[in-house]
Amino acid sequence: MSLFEQFGMMVLRSFDPEKSHKLSIAALRAGLAPLPGPVTSARLKTTFAGMELPNPVGLAAGYDKNAEAIPQLSRAGFGFLELGAATPRPQPGNPKPRLFRLTEDQAVINRFGFNNDGMEVIANRLARCRHSNRKVEIPVGLNLGANKDSEDRAADFAKVLAHCGNFIDFATVNVSSPNTEKLRDLQGPEALEALLAGVLDARKGLKQAVPVLLKIAPDLDTTELSEIAEVARKSGIDGVIATNTTLSRDGLKSAEKSEAGGLSGRPLFEKSTRVLAILSRELGEDVPLIGVGGIASPLDAYTKIRAGASLVQLYSAMVYQGLSLAPRIARGLDDLLAKDGFETVSEAVGTLRGDWL
Ligand code: FNR
Repeated sequence: MSLFEQFGMMVLRSFDPEKSHKLSIAALRAGLAPLPGPVTSARLKTTFAGMELPNPVGLAAGYDKNAEAIPQLSRAGFGFLELGAATPRPQPGNPKPRLFRLTEDQAVINRFGFNNDGMEVIANRLARCRHSNRKVEIPVGLNLGANKDSEDRAADFAKVLAHCGNFIDFATVNVSSPNTEKLRDLQGPEALEALLAGVLDARKGLKQAVPVLLKIAPDLDTTELSEIAEVARKSGIDGVIATNTTLSRDGLKSAEKSEAGGLSGRPLFEKSTRVLAILSRELGEDVPLIGVGGIASPLDAYTKIRAGASLVQLYSAMVYQGLSLAPRIARGLDDLLAKDGFETVSEAVGTLRGDWL
């Protein structure tokens, strides 16, 4: 981390977490963050569900919920971005405070509850970005969510895809946020099958068939994971993201550990990697995986890849290590792959899956 970034992080940390998140987006938009541009190499370049990526390290959903800083984030060293979650109608989310730093645990708890500007405003921003001359050279996806007071939550996912789908490179069905009551029930096999069918149907109306991914919770047992894998394979979706935040509070030290919401960051690493490895065993080559949860170093990213992830994403560790973490992880991953004799990142996928089963 540069001295400039260390100073910036110190300033940001003096505010409450939600304000500091807002300020970090404003600083990015104002051009205050140094942006390295795309990080890539022959070893890091990869493809996923037909998309070409300069490196496999992506930004996880929830940081740029409203698609406000796409040009800047696309030059921050990530290989791809996931924006959102976007819901059909704008909604304020849960009452504040709803974001907590657990510094001692290098973790975060959030109970935002899909606060966002709604699909119309977000689609306009995505479209403007697509049509501007500041070309975005990495895939940009959107996390799809459902309104809290919706009468048909399953239909909300299809609605957001129909509205925004022509301006994105992939979409993620997020049925795994713990902050919208009963949302996770949509992970049950029958509900999930119907929901995915609706989303894939909405995709038929788009100019291009964007890849549709499913993001799952880490708090699922082996039987539930097998059922989800079966639905994922049968439905014809293009990938699974493992995982969202957890409801578990095992082993935490920080005073804020009893706050309600989803826990992310370091304490999520083992749990989410085990879920990833189980899914990788169930799905084999049929459906590729993205690993997310607790990645804070090049070795963490490499470990997820060797457990079965074709790509990785991160968010919480940036709260502690800044935006320069993404390019550091991408470069460090390149070194680790080289050291073990891998010519490309895809060769390493799943090579140590057995260690997690
Ligand atoms: C998230 N995450 C998230 N996920 C999602 O699918 N839709 C969302 O809107 C959000 N929002 C969100 C807000 C905040 C403040 C955090 C910290 C996280 C979950 C995120 O994408 C990721 O799956 C987890 O945070 C695990 O990764 P990290 O943070 O441990 O790297």
